[in-house]
Amino acid sequence: MNHYPSARFSVAPMLDWTDRHCRYFHRLMSRHAQLYTEMVTTGAILYGKGDYLGFSEPEQPLVLQLGGSDPQALAACAVLAEQRGYNEINLNVGCPSDRVQNGMFGACLMAEPQRVADSIAAMKAAVSIPVTVKTRIGIDEQDSYEFLCTLVDGLVEVGVDALIVHARKAWLKGLSPKENREIPPLDYERVYQLKRDYPQLIMAVNGGIKTLDEAKQHLTQLDGVMVGREAYQNPYILAEVDAELFGDHYQVPSRHEVIRRLLPYIEQQLSQGTYLGNVTRHTLGIFQGLPGARAWRRHLSENAHKAGAGPEVVEAAMAKVPEFCYV
Ligand SMILES: Cc1cc2nc3c(=O)[nH]c(=O)nc-3n(C[C@H](O)[C@H](O)[C@H](O)COP(=O)(O)O)c2cc1C
Repeated sequence: MNHYPSARFSVAPMLDWTDRHCRYFHRLMSRHAQLYTEMVTTGAILYGKGDYLGFSEPEQPLVLQLGGSDPQALAACAVLAEQRGYNEINLNVGCPSDRVQNGMFGACLMAEPQRVADSIAAMKAAVSIPVTVKTRIGIDEQDSYEFLCTLVDGLVEVGVDALIVHARKAWLKGLSPKENREIPPLDYERVYQLKRDYPQLIMAVNGGIKTLDEAKQHLTQLDGVMVGREAYQNPYILAEVDAELFGDHYQVPSRHEVIRRLLPYIEQQLSQGTYLGNVTRHTLGIFQGLPGARAWRRHLSENAHKAGAGPEVVEAAMAKVPEFCYV
């Protein structure tokens, strides 16, 4: 049923968090999980000065998440992304921040199903990689099941390749993005219902998933799960994903080994002018729950941003966590 199985488990797009360093680190723990970029706006890609599409090969399978609402601009960005080697494009129809609303994209697009469908159609006509949508179950007072189905009908019509549903609605006024990830209640049943009503559409659920047991429960109803904050804050959860969810049983690296395997990448990045802290900030949670975890975090937080900080800071931090205290 699922024609691209990596969608079975993905790490959510998270602005300021899932940058290329984070993704490289995450890939050291799972070969199969699908990784997402942060949301990148069409304006940044088409008119920005920096390279917003950079990534390194090992990060794949990698999805570029786009923020935008102009079908032609989205299609132009999709073409650039395909040329750069991205495996998939995802359109953000779920972000509630004010900045995004001013640009008329993100969650407020739920109220413009025709524009969303046109955007997907334009991208699909322009590229051969899958084009998907990440959305919420509703916005503001528009939170009926029928409202959600209107959006989905339009997407199915233009052949969207998959849908990821954050199982809570967003309040566009009055709540911060952070509150919008916590206050509106989760409604997984609504996503299950959607899958029952659109059985041909590949569908993944997102929101509040903290363990692989929970993920497995959702996978009895759906094609995929997407995990955000837990994967970032407790990244070693990714080390069990390949065996538990993809049936690929190999010897996963220990936490210390993951960090050792990150060191060559760190050296390479430092030689290109990256600060150590830009890479290590994503690794703070890897020893979560183990003796020495706090000392690891503290040593990195206090030293990784200093001028000239290099791999020796990481090694010194790692030495604070006893290596053979766990299996
Ligand atoms: C720091 C942060 C940044 C986020 N940025 C994005 C983003 O760029 N695009 C997006 O679709 N969702 C974004 N989200 C929402 C997540 O993708 C996800 O939908 C949400 O955190 C719920 O999943 P979780 O409970 O597993 O974290 C962000 C979440 C966080 C915590």
